[in-house]
Amino acid sequence: MRTTRIVEMLEVTEAAALAAARWMGKGDKDAADAAAVEAMRTSFDELDISGEIVIGEGERDEAPMLYIGEKVGAGGEEIDIAVDPLEGTNLTAYGQPNSLAVLAFAPKGTLLNAPDTYMWKIATGPAAADAVHIDASPTENVINVAKALKRPVEDIVVCILERERHNDLIAEVRRAGARIRLISDGDVFGAVATAIEGTGIHLYMGAGGSPEGVLAAAAMRCIGGCFMGRFEFRSPEERERAISMSKCDIDGVLTMDCLVGTDEAAFIATGVTDGEMLRGVKYFGTGSRTHSIAMDNKTGTVRFIETVYRTGTEKFWVRMD
Ligand code: FBP
Repeated sequence: MRTTRIVEMLEVTEAAALAAARWMGKGDKDAADAAAVEAMRTSFDELDISGEIVIGEGERDEAPMLYIGEKVGAGGEEIDIAVDPLEGTNLTAYGQPNSLAVLAFAPKGTLLNAPDTYMWKIATGPAAADAVHIDASPTENVINVAKALKRPVEDIVVCILERERHNDLIAEVRRAGARIRLISDGDVFGAVATAIEGTGIHLYMGAGGSPEGVLAAAAMRCIGGCFMGRFEFRSPEERERAISMSKCDIDGVLTMDCLVGTDEAAFIATGVTDGEMLRGVKYFGTGSRTHSIAMDNKTGTVRFIETVYRTGTEKFWVRMD
């Protein structure tokens, strides 16, 4: 039953990725996003769920579909849903790595209804989960991750969004001796990659979108990593909005318990463009292929899933990778 739900939800991110990837490199991020949103929205309605979008495309008046508070599904199990139909719209529009179609779901009332403000974030995988803290300095965090992973600081790679607001952070991490993977967008990838061996990323730090923070926290909760956040409001209005929306101490540390208050969350992402964690969508004339990760805290599973969609009735060989 639970596995059925995971696969159903997987088809939702696959649909979004398949729609968005058609826009790869076309320079039109809005069209890529709109395609992903529509595909995701349509897919949800085929499911026997009573879902509420708690993290979505924005407020009702600014987003026609998948807005915060929107009800999705044909009726059934009551769940909270967090979505980012296209995480990294520019990455897709310019054919850059690591754009994803993402969702998380959890029992009703358990996902933080985070406002669209910035959040300072720190994330690392299970092996160093107890070694970092959002209140520690970047230098301390880098050193502690190195100790936890039993390697010199020089071998640690920190993922940081390339933004002017991170100039001090970047300078400090460099002084500490760690290497840096600068990304132009897509910090859900940046945070989740710290928990996936082989991506070469050990620690994520910096300020990005709050909605993306809840999605990353769901993944880290599923996989036993660490995620902590702290809202960074740009205006008193944003602060007021956070007070009205969330149950947490909005000026304090946003722990994983506060962001994802359940052991029954699941996180699913499908690659849109190729990246270190997931391969992007491939179209090959007679079909298409997607690559996804599905983490489920309820069953303690992490699945990497390749799906081949056949179009029409043509027969073809399915290649092993
Ligand atoms: P979009 O997919 O909405 O374009 O945003 C991607 C993203 O890079 C997120 O991954 C990140 O959290 C946020 O934007 C950073 O915001 P900003 O570009 O304002 O620094």
